[in-house]
Amino acid sequence: MYTAIVVASEVNPRADNEDAMRCAQSVGRALDGRGIESAIIPLNESAFDGNDPVIDRRLFAGADCVFNLFEGFSYNSYAEVVFAEWLEKNSIPFTGNASRALRICLDKSACKKALALNGIPTPHGAMTCSVESLDSLSLRYPVFIKPASEDASVGIDSGALCWNEESLRREMEKKIRLYPEGMIIEEFLPGVEYNASFIGSAQLIAVAHIDYAQYPDLPPFLTYDSKWNRESREYSAIQPVICNDNSIRERIRRIGSDAAQVLGCGGYFRIDFREKNGNLYVIDVNPNPDINEDAGFSNHARSAGYTYQDMIELIVKESFGGKNGRA
Ligand SMILES: Nc1ncnc2c1ncn2[C@@H]1O[C@H](COP(=O)(O)OP(=O)(O)O)[C@@H](O)[C@H]1O
Ligand SMILES: [Mg+2]
Repeated sequence: MYTAIVVASEVNPRADNEDAMRCAQSVGRALDGRGIESAIIPLNESAFDGNDPVIDRRLFAGADCVFNLFEGFSYNSYAEVVFAEWLEKNSIPFTGNASRALRICLDKSACKKALALNGIPTPHGAMTCSVESLDSLSLRYPVFIKPASEDASVGIDSGALCWNEESLRREMEKKIRLYPEGMIIEEFLPGVEYNASFIGSAQLIAVAHIDYAQYPDLPPFLTYDSKWNRESREYSAIQPVICNDNSIRERIRRIGSDAAQVLGCGGYFRIDFREKNGNLYVIDVNPNPDINEDAGFSNHARSAGYTYQDMIELIVKESFGGKNGRA
């Protein structure tokens, strides 16, 4: 069996994109450990003409499967959807999520709407594209503001939590220039955060939780720095802890697999929740989350008894037989 590991290659990548190349190397070593031959195929901007793929099919000659670590570029996250569509059109099996799930989850507004329509709890909120349109929203403070079409906490800094209209306007003015595709403004949920990892469409691997009450001098949410800036205090201080509370796990498994069904998620994915007044709300669905050896997803798998090689092999197996949401 031969697997082509595909990853973005950029001249000046952002820290989260740079991590994808490190991940490709780890995945290659894990596959090698299981006797699966692989090669890393970097895709750079020349593989796309705007949003049209101009990918040479011969790059994938002989590949039984693509290990898809391609998450688009720092300046164009949407390329990940285009690439998955290209793989589907060319009938090349690939790991992780189908283009449909990638597309909807990249658009936090569409994702929230689909979940809410299907009765899955998400924080009350809306998308806005201008400072002026804030007037038409009925908001109860505090609110949280985040880019509508990014992930990895891109665009989330200590200013994301706004306690009043004045700070929201100031933040919106600053952020909408950087993220013109829109900002989500939603109810801030102050309770514990849960990150739940799934493989396949419904198998809950593990849940970790972050209790921000333990870090009173840090922002009570995950900023970009807390995920990617190794020099920052929040990066080293905030450590998610595996949650062994069976009743929480069961509630998360139920809501998470319902959400996955609505969005067409499969392969492997992580869902983030926050709690308020004892209720759990889905704040984010991440198809193809970071699976670096030191990433949350891999720690979750380890806590459930899977070695890194087990996890990578399982993800490859999931990509065959329509298990990842494809027909
Ligand atoms: N409505 C909310 N209430 C409280 N915290 C939130 C809310 N939305 C997001 N966050 C915080 O911001 C972080 C990043 O937001 P998230 O929606 O998960 O986007 P991303 O795709 O960037 O991970 C979350 O891990 C959480 O700490
Ligand atoms: Mg998240």
